[in-house]
Amino acid sequence: MRFEIVTLFPEMIDAATRCGVIGKALESGLMTVTNHQLRDYCGGSIHKVDDAPYGGGPGMVMRPEPIYAAIEDVSSRCGADLKVLMTPQGKRYDQATARRLAGYDSILLFCGRYEGVDERVRGLFDEELSVGDYVLTGGEAAALIVIESVGRLIPGVLGSDESSLDESFSAGLLEYPQYTRPEEFKGMRVPEVLTSGDHAKIERWRAEQAESRTRRRRPDLLAQKPGGERGRG
Ligand SMILES: C[S@@+](CC[C@H](N)C(=O)[O-])C[C@H]1O[C@@H](n2cnc3c(N)ncnc32)[C@H](O)[C@@H]1O
Repeated sequence: MRFEIVTLFPEMIDAATRCGVIGKALESGLMTVTNHQLRDYCGGSIHKVDDAPYGGGPGMVMRPEPIYAAIEDVSSRCGADLKVLMTPQGKRYDQATARRLAGYDSILLFCGRYEGVDERVRGLFDEELSVGDYVLTGGEAAALIVIESVGRLIPGVLGSDESSLDESFSAGLLEYPQYTRPEEFKGMRVPEVLTSGDHAKIERWRAEQAESRTRRRRPDLLAQKPGGERGRG
């Protein structure tokens, strides 16, 4: 899988993708992340990527010409099956979207800055994604969330002892509680069932825990499950 990132701060993307599971996936060639510096597309006489907003107001707006040139060039030279604008005004990003995006061979992510992009470039993108109802200073942190969450779903990226199948959100539930050694820590013991060696019992316990934890912390997830609370009327 290929990620093509259009950004003013490629060093942010580079630094974060060098680490851990994603760093290893890049080393092994299971995925690639290529940065494209938006400033390189400021041809003509104006060498700025931003300008003052028409109508006045605070901040600066990203000029349409470099954005248009960058998206056209990267799409035609590298190819991009899906072109995404990162923006707080986009569709809320979630695990189901990560799974859908993992089905593409190549994804272009555009990272905004300042007050965002000139409205007239929105049509260049296939979709707009928001990583949550808050405003970041730039799209790089948002793009990294997409790269991380999609990247770890690519077959082979997680080791054989790690799996994305029973994690939070994979079945519309939060994950069950996890424990490791020591068996007793500050007076708190690991639940007996987990040391029983009875795998059927452990599976049942985990399923119950996932369900009750989700009910307490995120009842909205249960309501969204097919046949969930809402479905039961
Ligand atoms: C300061 S924000 C601009 C916010 C814009 N003025 C607005 O109110 O919608 C600058 C850039 O950060 C990125 N960004 C900020 N918050 C984001 C979020 N929640 N999800 C995705 N991208 C975000 C976008 O690329 C955006 O263009």
